[in-house]
Amino acid sequence: MTRDELLKLVGTLDLVRKVGLLTGATVWRTRAEPAVGLREMVFSDGPAGVRGEEWDERRPSLLLPSASALGSLWDEQLAGELGELLALEALRKKVHAVLAPTLNLHRSPLGGRHFECLAEDPELAARTGAALIRGIQAHGVAATAKHYVANDSETERLTLDVRVDERTLREVYLAPFEAAVRAGVWLVMSAYNGVNGTTMTASDLLAEPLKGEWGFDGAVVSDWGAVRQTAQSAAAAQDLAMPGPDGPWGAALVAAVLCGSVPEEAIDDKVLRLLTLADRVGALGGGRGIPSRAWPGGTARCLLRRAVAASTVLLRNEDVLPLDAAALHSVAVIGRHASAPRLQGGGSAGVFPPDVVTPLDGIRARLPGRTRVLHAPGPDLGGLPLPLDPARCENPLTGEPGVLLRVLSASGHELYAEHRLSGRQLEPPLAPEAHTVEISALVRPAGDGKWTFGVGGYGRMSLAVDGQLLVEGEFARDSEDPAVIHLDPPRRHASVWLAGGQPAHVVARRELAPDTGRAVVVTAAEPEPDQEQALAEAVEAARQADVAVVVVGTTEGSESEGHDRTSLTLPGRQDELVSAVAAANPRTVVVVNSGGPVELPWREEAGAVLLSWFPGQEAGAGLADVLLGQAEPGGRLPTTWGAALADAPVTHTRPQDGRLVYAEGLHIGYRAWLRAGRVPAYWFGHGLGYTTWSYESLRVAGAHDGGEDLVAEVRVRNTGVRSGREVVQVYLARPDSAVERPVRWLAGFTAVRVQPGQTVTATVRIPARMLRHWDTDARAWRTEEGSWRILAGRSAGDLPLTATVRGPRERR
Ligand code: BGC
Repeated sequence: MTRDELLKLVGTLDLVRKVGLLTGATVWRTRAEPAVGLREMVFSDGPAGVRGEEWDERRPSLLLPSASALGSLWDEQLAGELGELLALEALRKKVHAVLAPTLNLHRSPLGGRHFECLAEDPELAARTGAALIRGIQAHGVAATAKHYVANDSETERLTLDVRVDERTLREVYLAPFEAAVRAGVWLVMSAYNGVNGTTMTASDLLAEPLKGEWGFDGAVVSDWGAVRQTAQSAAAAQDLAMPGPDGPWGAALVAAVLCGSVPEEAIDDKVLRLLTLADRVGALGGGRGIPSRAWPGGTARCLLRRAVAASTVLLRNEDVLPLDAAALHSVAVIGRHASAPRLQGGGSAGVFPPDVVTPLDGIRARLPGRTRVLHAPGPDLGGLPLPLDPARCENPLTGEPGVLLRVLSASGHELYAEHRLSGRQLEPPLAPEAHTVEISALVRPAGDGKWTFGVGGYGRMSLAVDGQLLVEGEFARDSEDPAVIHLDPPRRHASVWLAGGQPAHVVARRELAPDTGRAVVVTAAEPEPDQEQALAEAVEAARQADVAVVVVGTTEGSESEGHDRTSLTLPGRQDELVSAVAAANPRTVVVVNSGGPVELPWREEAGAVLLSWFPGQEAGAGLADVLLGQAEPGGRLPTTWGAALADAPVTHTRPQDGRLVYAEGLHIGYRAWLRAGRVPAYWFGHGLGYTTWSYESLRVAGAHDGGEDLVAEVRVRNTGVRSGREVVQVYLARPDSAVERPVRWLAGFTAVRVQPGQTVTATVRIPARMLRHWDTDARAWRTEEGSWRILAGRSAGDLPLTATVRGPRERR
């Protein structure tokens, strides 16, 4: 529909109806208005997959690699294909808008949602984010650029006030959102936090630069529960308050308009934007509705597998990789994460994947039958017990793998019962008169030993094993954060000795109470074998094998929405495990399974080090491709990895008196390392492939199409024996600038595929914008006169080629 037609529709609605549309109908739906042909629109979280409206493990969703992995692709084509996959998942799940991508930045390695953000560099985040958006929207599904803006850490995330200067905002934190608008994004999500004294749902930044200067014509949806007052947010350019049906707008907003504190035109503009969105996603008039589409059978898994290999970063390789399958007699696959990998981070982005290929499965499946694969889990990780799952328990009523979920009345009468596949139930069904939710299961201990059980939730809860009460009490709500209340309520634990071979009946109950969600989580950890012995067995397995693959990583809860990290050390004795295995077998490949940086104190001891990030459901398939040389590890670091947390320049994520000062200004990520004169373990942009490269020459000229863009022509030669893909990176520097500058900053990149011995010229476009700085006094972009240094190479710390070029004005 045209804007005029949409405006006409707005004009037919009275104030009450219009305001009614501006708050959600449910947690995930907007309201319908039959009078104008508007249907409900369904929103669902991304970015790792599209869960749909329910948290139900029986309705799985394809699970992509984490955003930090997508940031490692440096490949807009592949990012776009993954965006399309999200769109088709959305269509399959009857979803109109995917709440992704997350465009906040890796400001500090401690950021709890680091895994959910793309990069530390604004340009890399901007290009990858824009590619995802174009992919999602190509199928008529809305993408959402979130969380606008400066939601880069989690501590006090609902209330924290980020203090950041205007130039830094423009050049760093707003830049990926500006690119999202240029890519045509249909939704922007305003963040919980404030910036420079105003909470984002009431911030002037929604009007300028978002809607005015950048011309964003879509709708601004709030983060869930982020609209907390009436007039200020409605008078600002906030359009839609989610979730519903209650909220601070409704009748109070009608009153605010009637008494003149919010102009009715502001309401009309919001409704216009909502109708524009509905029109775009097929929820208005006789439009197409949601077409039912799914990714062609089997190919989705191939795409995900390709994405795993393409995002895996090879940090180090002492001639160990790729492995030659034909020459391998035995492989030791070591570590807990080899059979129980972390596939995704915690929080609202979580989905239930259909099938999962673990690293152990992936490796086993790809080696010839005569190759012996030994698995040694190594010592316990020391994490919290995991939610019950069908591999570890059965329904006490039916004996099927899984748990029994029951909803009881106040008198203990069963109102509802069903078989479920997880001990983590976030939305147990609400029958009328529901009073108590119960999850029960039988666990069968293999041997005698001490088990630890846990129950998570709020209110009156109990946990009993074989009738023995282990936990009982009233647990008060301790957080305002919806992600904590609904997804990850605190757990209480207790241990009990169980006899081997005798099934134990676990029963957890939680009474329902207002404002505490209804999540119930039942966890269990079996007795741990002797730790020294587990370590010794792993070392022995490594010693006996031709090659050892050790998979290490972070544990449940350590990387999650709702809180920041406190340490970058791998949990448990994993560092000791890697060192011991590497000492036993020089052909040790370490696979690091984390969403964000961890310390790798043993990195020089290992034969090879790979980062798999949170790789999603095809983890093991993509990993096996990389290990066996079927695919090159394609990833390049989207963020700098320090040797130790203490070296990292920006570790400050705890607000003081509610304020978090971005004191480092423009110097985010590698820029901060460069400014501090510190050398990280691995620079932003670093990543090896399976061939070697020489950088031969650099030429810089103005772009042929005129304008102020520059083009760097970088000649690179594949000096190895395999064909390969190289990500050619170009950085800018301006040592004698009159304004403060980063030491250097990424200005452009491109990838080339080259046969061994061949040379190609990579053409890297440097947009004129990369030369500009934001002049806060003039409130405008400016380009300094004079010359610029251009640096080309493989990472922010490895730039063998340099050139000097005159600025656009002198070139004319
Ligand atoms: C998160 C958002 C998410 C929303 C809905 C919030 O707590 O910050 O990223 O889209 O919940 O689940």
